[in-house]
Amino acid sequence: MRIKGTTAAEIAGSVRDQVASGELAPRASLPPVRVLAGELGVNRNTVALAYRRLVEAGVAETRGRGGTVVAAVPQLAREGVGAGGDCVDLASGNPDPLLLPDLLGAARRGEYSPPLYGAPAIDPELDTWARADFAEDIEQPFRTLVTHGAVDATERLLNAHLTRGDLVAIEDPCFLASIGTLRLGGYRSAPVRVDGAGMRPDALRAALAAGARAVVCTPRAHNPTGASLTEERAADLRAILARHPQVLVIEDDHFSAVSARPYHRVTPPGSTRWALVRSVSKFLGPDLRLALVAADAGTTARLEARLSAGTTWVSRLLQHTARELLLDPRVHELHERARELYARRSGLLVERLRAQGIEVPYRPDGLNVWVELDVDGRAAVADLARRGWAVRPGHLFAPDPAAHQGAIRVTAATLTEPQAEAFAAELAAAVAELHSKAT
Ligand SMILES: Cc1ncc(COP(=O)(O)O)c(C=O)c1O
Repeated sequence: MRIKGTTAAEIAGSVRDQVASGELAPRASLPPVRVLAGELGVNRNTVALAYRRLVEAGVAETRGRGGTVVAAVPQLAREGVGAGGDCVDLASGNPDPLLLPDLLGAARRGEYSPPLYGAPAIDPELDTWARADFAEDIEQPFRTLVTHGAVDATERLLNAHLTRGDLVAIEDPCFLASIGTLRLGGYRSAPVRVDGAGMRPDALRAALAAGARAVVCTPRAHNPTGASLTEERAADLRAILARHPQVLVIEDDHFSAVSARPYHRVTPPGSTRWALVRSVSKFLGPDLRLALVAADAGTTARLEARLSAGTTWVSRLLQHTARELLLDPRVHELHERARELYARRSGLLVERLRAQGIEVPYRPDGLNVWVELDVDGRAAVADLARRGWAVRPGHLFAPDPAAHQGAIRVTAATLTEPQAEAFAAELAAAVAELHSKAT
């Protein structure tokens, strides 16, 4: 193996060639910066910059003291990973299947004639519904789009406006797919701490000062914490973002129809690049793979341009199905029930945990409850698994995996009262056991 070059671009290019040819295998160590700089007769900073570019491009990874290694296919944590064996699944992040409507029945209802190439990308009635829904919350002029879900929308929006290596402000802790999207897209993340009222203004200010070119924000039912923006907090964030009108603002309002909290907008009126994304995954079902997007005209045009060269449109059969459901009063009733039940289930869990003296910092909305422990989250997850409960460790949701070591995320979407009672007692016992082992 011989890495060549005298500039950062040449050195990085040489490493990429060797990775592509297989000379450098996944996980192979790159020479230490000092050693390679000596061999090539260049400044250490040049090699360090080359390595940083390779990391940003997803070709290499830093392993702290282990140096820089060639990246393997990223092992990204995902939603939907549930219980192994006989464990009760409080890990998956999934909605309750009993609170989702019948997709096949809806697909069969109403008028549907399969469109051919060249048909409008949006089902006209779905578009009318979406426009009315968005118009309640958006004062700026906007256009609508349909994407294959919220994650697809976020990925395309970032792609449309950013380039690899750009800094993106994301919540900390954060939705798993956002962490994955940033890693796969080669963006750098600027973690913005979240408290009970959403993104913290000081942290957002710092991320923007550090050069963030986009912000991805969950206005309510934040995953994993359950936090929702208060009106006041949204106004603070809006004021901060108003000073950066060129920054792309993506609002991921994923729980909209079944959220127990109002939507508070963070996009400032003068923003030139913004999108409000409303996935239907949580209330019509993740298999529709569909999100409605409202965005400024320029952003919509960029997204359409990207779509038209490739996928062109989201299946009109899926759109037809979504439309039949969104216009159905029985589905509205189901959503009322879902909103009430999700709030009741997460509230119940919080109550039982607090009765056991366990810290639950936020009043949650959504499917999940975030629990902060004074023991290691991974150890608590392992202990709970032995006791028959599957939950997820908090560090998975951190843009920086060293953070949130003492937290766990518990999905309460299907939780029953006896389960809430039993789980809280088992978690308290697991924590006590871990304390006694530590002393
Ligand atoms: C914050 C957040 N956004 C979006 C989604 C849904 O994404 P999609 O529409 O791609 O299914 C989820 C699902 O867990 C989520 O937690």
